Amino acid sequence: MDDTAIEVRLGKPADAKGILDCLLLTLSEHTWFDRDENESGITNPDVLGIKISQFKLGEKAYIVAVDQDKVVGFILLVRGGLHSVRHTCDLGMSLLPEYREKGIGSRLLQAAIDWTRQHGMDKIYCSTFNTNHRAVRLYEKFGFEREGVRRKQYKIAGEYVDQILFGKLLNA
Ligand SMILES: CC(C)(COP(=O)(O)OP(=O)(O)OC[C@H]1O[C@@H](n2cnc3c(N)ncnc32)[C@H](O)[C@@H]1OP(=O)(O)O)[C@@H](O)C(=O)NCCC(=O)NCCS
Repeated sequence: MDDTAIEVRLGKPADAKGILDCLLLTLSEHTWFDRDENESGITNPDVLGIKISQFKLGEKAYIVAVDQDKVVGFILLVRGGLHSVRHTCDLGMSLLPEYREKGIGSRLLQAAIDWTRQHGMDKIYCSTFNTNHRAVRLYEKFGFEREGVRRKQYKIAGEYVDQILFGKLLNA
């Protein structure tokens, strides 16, 4: 696959089914996230499409990676809602298995950081399992710092894993 053929852009309501397919497939791996495909909270692409169409500018966004017309990965960005956390943005990301380790996650993350800066936030944050070496490498490569560790926070496939909290200050 030629990585340059992958487009990275803001998600649209029409991307909802692709985003959902990608999310559910990733959750069904039972490896990377704190929930499985039955706990995603949203399963209907029409409902997700409506939600995306209602996103307020600079409050929430999907950034998607698209191969031809197919969504192959995404980042969800959510600005803090309370006054005390309006300067922060939470991120979660996921790529289809065959599109991993080709630099697409890096392109998505750069676009996410750009979006967060453009909309005036000062901090972007996320978390991952200590066992997710690829995600840890990706976040550290982009200057995210380890802000804490919650020991044995999750039990995944019968094994305890730690949750590593990552944050990046954008105007420091
Ligand atoms: C995590 C994820 C989003 C990263 O996206 P990606 O496109 O695979 O990442 P990239 O290819 O841009 O970068 C991955 C980096 O990890 C490195 N890497 C890969 N395997 C690794 C390993 N086992 N140990 C350490 N580093 C590793 C790569 O070399 C690359 O670093 P480099 O750019 O310095 O060479 C993607 O792999 C994914 O969707 N994984 C499953 C879902 C998931 O884990 N989501 C995040 C949950 S917090």
